[in-house]
Amino acid sequence: MTARVTISGDQDTDRYDLHHHGDAEVGPGLVDLAVNVRTGTPPRWLRDRLVASLDDVAAYPDPGRAIAALAERHDRPGDEVVPTAGGAEAFVLLARALRPRHAVVVHPQFTEPEAALRAAGHAVDRVVLDGDFRLDPDAVPADADLVVVGNPTNPTSVRHPADVLARLARPGRTLVVDEAFIDTAPGEPDSLGGRRDLPGLVVLRSLTKTWGLAGLRVGYALAPAGLAEGLRAAAPPWSVSTPALVALEACSSPAARAEADEAARALTADRAHLVTALSAVDGLELRATPAASFVLARTPGRTDVRKRLRERGIAVRRGDTFPGLDAEHVRIAVRAPEVSDGLVAALSEIL
Ligand SMILES: Cc1ncc(COP(=O)(O)O)c(C=O)c1O
Repeated sequence: MTARVTISGDQDTDRYDLHHHGDAEVGPGLVDLAVNVRTGTPPRWLRDRLVASLDDVAAYPDPGRAIAALAERHDRPGDEVVPTAGGAEAFVLLARALRPRHAVVVHPQFTEPEAALRAAGHAVDRVVLDGDFRLDPDAVPADADLVVVGNPTNPTSVRHPADVLARLARPGRTLVVDEAFIDTAPGEPDSLGGRRDLPGLVVLRSLTKTWGLAGLRVGYALAPAGLAEGLRAAAPPWSVSTPALVALEACSSPAARAEADEAARALTADRAHLVTALSAVDGLELRATPAASFVLARTPGRTDVRKRLRERGIAVRRGDTFPGLDAEHVRIAVRAPEVSDGLVAALSEIL
């Protein structure tokens, strides 16, 4: 199916709460299927490294070792690597550093990039994918000089092929690819993190999800040196703490990457279990093949499913705060099979 694409301009900015996140949906006594941070994280060895890093916090942070480790991991020069306080800070730095004449955000996707652009005073057009959420690069206006896309995309869980994304890059345009979830597949297929040949490409990465470091605030940007310099200049001094820099270095090692791959393989099996179980639920559909640590489900004609699940002690992420989706959609985190079975039993009763 080809995706339908609409440009919505500014007129419906206020229809969606761009600052709503899954963590607002969880609470005491609820099984958390709303937040996509890997369970059982951070691993013990990483916690130990973070604790040890506290010995050094009397000094201002020095990003040198983290940058060198990331440069080696992505096979790029260090001046193309910018540590950030999570992907969230990277969106703000981009919004500060760039002066787009025509910014386009491809939706449905994580809403903070658009929120950051608007907060910095930029107008934003939306390209809203429909159908199975497949990306058609020709649907993005040719004059867009800033394009933001997620891969794999939150909340659709769709992973766009690298060659399709690459077609969005061109001279005179900054292409931002948010890869916060790219390490949820073994070997990080379709990552553009090593592509230095694409003009204006900025790849954003986060340690939040796979390593369980949401509270540490840690991620990084990979960009051509000029763009990277702009991001550094837009950042507050020392915004990435010493423990966060230690995490960047530690999680770049070959052993850590192998561990992430292993976790991604386990996730793939758990997701297959969830998808099979959900497919047997009458009145529920998956609009696209999921590729990340969550699944987007639609319940046609039913907008009460999230509330009914909450009454049964299960928190899922509402869909209606994402441009292009509505209250018939919920996002479900992939968990261990027994947790998914509990969800599917509850869904079967509700539907
Ligand atoms: C797609 C996506 N990108 C980026 C982020 C930001 O993550 P962080 O700022 O914790 O790195 C999130 C968080 O939910 C996300 O879902």
